[in-house]
Order: sequence, then structure tokens, then C-alpha cells
Amino acid sequence: MFSEEMVKSVGGGSEIRAMFEQGAKLAAQFGAENVYDFTLGNPDPEADPEVTAAIKKYADEPGIHKYMPNAGYKDVREKIAAYMKEQNGVDYTFENVLMIAGAAAGLNVVLKSLLNPGENVIVIAPYFVEYLSYIRNHRGVPNIVKAKADSFDIDVDAVVNAINSETKAILLNSPNNPTGVVYSEEALRALAEAVAKKEEEYGHEIYVLSDEPYIKLTYSGVKVPSIPSIFRNSIVVNSFSKSLALPGERIGYIIVNPAIKDADILMQGMIICARTLGYVNAPSLFQKVIADNLDLTTGLESYAERGELLYNIITEAGFECLKPQGAFYLFPKAPIEDDRAFCKAALKYNLILVSGSGFGCPGYFRLAYCVSKETILRSKNAWMELGKEFGLI
Ligand SMILES: Cc1ncc(COP(=O)(O)O)c(C=O)c1O
Repeated sequence: MFSEEMVKSVGGGSEIRAMFEQGAKLAAQFGAENVYDFTLGNPDPEADPEVTAAIKKYADEPGIHKYMPNAGYKDVREKIAAYMKEQNGVDYTFENVLMIAGAAAGLNVVLKSLLNPGENVIVIAPYFVEYLSYIRNHRGVPNIVKAKADSFDIDVDAVVNAINSETKAILLNSPNNPTGVVYSEEALRALAEAVAKKEEEYGHEIYVLSDEPYIKLTYSGVKVPSIPSIFRNSIVVNSFSKSLALPGERIGYIIVNPAIKDADILMQGMIICARTLGYVNAPSLFQKVIADNLDLTTGLESYAERGELLYNIITEAGFECLKPQGAFYLFPKAPIEDDRAFCKAALKYNLILVSGSGFGCPGYFRLAYCVSKETILRSKNAWMELGKEFGLI
């Protein structure tokens, strides 16, 4: 028989996938233009012409498709170190950079390199659903701490209270999936101060693992505070899935703060983990492609417009929601306690939503607004009907 744990996972399934499939069924029944599917964080628009031109350019480069150093091309790592140094004021060199197959792979490699069995990783809820699996993959224990109720900012006291002798890392994601919130500098600085005290108290490092695939997607002048400049023991995982609209190509990097004690051993360990987990090296051609386009952000203005549009529509329909700050998600309050029942009710109007429970935050629902502007505009009547059904207008 197969692994019992995996068979259990198959039974559980993914809520986002299930809703997406529900949407496909409705689209077949009513026509795709009459179904409003806000489930998936799949970037739209397509990759920029600069990016596709670079793909074509590098495809013919001699040796590009061969085995290569596991950590990635030196020139690519140098460009990323220089870029991150400029962004964060941290003295990174290429030796701090490991190219990896997207943020998902990056997080797994870091967690495998950090965790002893039973050690804790603090995760702020709401969180990206896969985090819990990534931590458990490497025999860690997720320690879930709720964000502040109204702002979804970090609840520093709650995080500090959750730190114990087994705490190895704190996993942060800002701009956040699913809330679209950017954690405040005030909270991050307070957390850094408290974590430093806890490190002293327990006599070991507590690493801050910053998952930053949405860092370039912010709106209305919102700035994302630099986590590497605030936390000494920081490890950043980034990818080009969202910022260059390349999720199918699996390209990203890990960058380790050089101030971390024995940063070189961690880097060597991560290279081994990347190999033994089977990633071996990041896609070679795409390393070159992203290195030529580090300053580019695909779709930024159009996400800003669509986020604002959807925010205006749902608030007109009576839903309570924070203004979009970053990423491409809204996380409104469900009008009834049972968010799953609410998402089921929305299906009546061909609105496909994902419940907050799936992100560790019942009572809310997530909307991915990386859908066409037309879909958002056409969905307005459905939102108004849904708002009426729940007595919001
Ligand atoms: C917060 C967060 N982290 C990580 C990932 C995984 O990204 P990647 O495609 O780079 O593996 C996603 C994808 O949606 C995400 O939203």
C-alpha cells in the first residue's frame, strides 16, 4: 500500500483546487464569460516581451542546457547580490545567493537545512496554505499565531508569547497572501527587538524566513519595509513567479544574510539539500533570463487598477475589506460566521471564492484579482445580488 500520510492528503484535497474545478463546471454550464472565478493566484498578464525575447536569445547559447554548478551561475548570483544590496543595504555577495526552482522549492530547502525533528516554526495566520506541509516535510512543527484582527498586521506580543525553547524560525510573508497586507515597519522593528532578547534567553538563533514573491507588487505608494535590514538572522526566499509572471518556469533564489553566524555552512548545507531534495539546480536558461530583468515588474499598473476596481465593487455591495496594499488578493470579511457556507452560497451567483478557513483564518474569504478587468466589471451584478441576499445593502 502507499504512504498512509499521502493517502490521507489525497482524501483532504485542496480547497482552492476544488473551487477552481467547481468554476470549470459552472463555466461549461453557463459560459465562461458568465462565471467569475477569483480562486487562483495565477499571474495575468502574460510575461513581458523583454522576458520572452531573453528566453529566445538564451535558448541558443552554447552550453546553456548542460549540467551546471548546483548553486547557479556565478554572474547571475552576482547580479542578484548587487540588486539585493541596493534594495536592503545589506552587504550581500554572490556567495550568499542560491538559485532555486521557485519559492516553494526555496522554502523547502531552507527548512530542511534549519530544522531538527520537533523544532517549531512560527507561522502568522492567515498564511499561504502550503507552509504547514513544507514545515512538516522536514519534521518541523508549525506554531500558528494569529495576525491582528482588524489590520492583519503582525501581533508582536502574540508572536513573542509563542516563542519557546524549540522555536527555530519565524516565517513571514509580506506583501501577504491571502490578505494583501504589508506588515508595518513598527511591528517588524518591535519584533526584531523582542526576538533578539529571546535568542539571548534561549541561547540559540531564531531565524526569520522571509517569503517575498510579491515584494515588487505594491500599490498607492505603499513601501515594503526591508526585512533583511531589520533582522540580522534573516533568510529571504524570492521567486519570479509573480513579479515576472513566470510561475510555470520555476525560478527563484534564496539569499542568506551574511551576518548569520556560520552563514557559509548554511549555504553549503542548502546546496546539498537542493540536490538531495531533487531540485539539483535552478533551470539554467531562466537564471539568465531573470538576471537580465531584475528591474522589471510585469502587470503592476494593471493589478493596481483591478484591485481598486474589485475593492470598490465589493464595498459597494456591502462587504467589509481592507484596501489593497500589495500582492493581488483581497481578503474580505464573510457576512456569516461559516465562511465555507458563505462561499457555497456565492456559487449561486457564479462567484467562485475561497474560504478563509483554508488559510487558517475562518470568517473571511479570499479573492485573487489577477483576472481580466472585464471579469471584474461583469461580476458587479452578482456581487450586488450576493450583498442583498446577506442583508448588506
Ligand atoms: C506566499 C507564497 N509563497 C510561495 C508561493 C510559491 O511560489 P513559487 O511559484 O515561486 O513556488 C506562493 C504562490 O502562490 C505564494 O503565494
